[in-house]
Amino acid sequence: MSEDTPHYLLDHTDRELRRLDLQGELYRDVTTRALRDAGIGEGMQVLDIGSGSGDVSITAGRLVGPTGSVLGIDRGAAAIRDARAKAAAAGLEHVLFEQHEIDDFRTASSFHALIGRFVLMHQQDPGRALRAAARHVRPGGVIVMIESHMELLRTGGHSTPHSPLYETIVDFKARVVRAAGADLEAGGRLRATFRAAGLPEPTCRLEAHAEGGADSRYYGYVEQSVLSMLGEAARAGIDTFDEASAKGIGDRLRDEVVAAGGSLISWPVVYAIARLP
Ligand SMILES: C[S@@+](CC[C@H](N)C(=O)[O-])C[C@H]1O[C@@H](n2cnc3c(N)ncnc32)[C@H](O)[C@@H]1O
Repeated sequence: MSEDTPHYLLDHTDRELRRLDLQGELYRDVTTRALRDAGIGEGMQVLDIGSGSGDVSITAGRLVGPTGSVLGIDRGAAAIRDARAKAAAAGLEHVLFEQHEIDDFRTASSFHALIGRFVLMHQQDPGRALRAAARHVRPGGVIVMIESHMELLRTGGHSTPHSPLYETIVDFKARVVRAAGADLEAGGRLRATFRAAGLPEPTCRLEAHAEGGADSRYYGYVEQSVLSMLGEAARAGIDTFDEASAKGIGDRLRDEVVAAGGSLISWPVVYAIARLP
């Protein structure tokens, strides 16, 4: 890893892996839609880059079924262990995980599809990483990347009516993610990233949830995600929250939103799909 490699999310603490699980739940519907839109289905061989705790690979594994296969690659050993355990518990023997850097990954296989979620935002040079991964896709194959477009919430349209607590959280998360070297506009930049990787112009779609009501799991996700960022925040000198003030933030957010009868816009994502000639 080079000096200037973004370090965010590289240490895969248990708390971080659980946050990835919650995030996986939140983004599973858009992920399934993106994979289906790209035509991923029965019998296909799929490569998932930056597979984390396995959610995207497992979602793809269900679509391709046992006649297909999914290989998830990630640089983190703990993430690979966690993802393998999850695939095994789900009985998905055709979903495999291996520890690799994207740039260094070599294989004799070629894949029908390359997929990835929230991974290009953490690359110093996302075009180069995507180009390296796309070498493993066979002619006529498809590439699907799903990336955060978090910066959109910073323009103020994150809640209706305006939630002061959510604004503080959005600001905290954005500052921590940026301080760690990740790109908050990776979703908005996907077209440029595909171009830089030498790929065909993708079709792109922007999605977000408008969450609200007493039963939404979003409040819990927000709390977990703030808690999982406290170490990184301390390293960056961002002291908006500490462990004590972050605990219970999900309940406070729920109370505020329910009392106002309002809604919160979840972290927006863009998914981009391109097919190779
Ligand atoms: C934010 S997590 C997303 C995990 C998963 N794709 C998901 O959506 O749940 C990003 C993952 O990409 C991995 N990662 C980032 N850059 C990588 C690289 N260059 N090579 C391999 N893995 C990488 C990290 O270790 C981390 O597990």
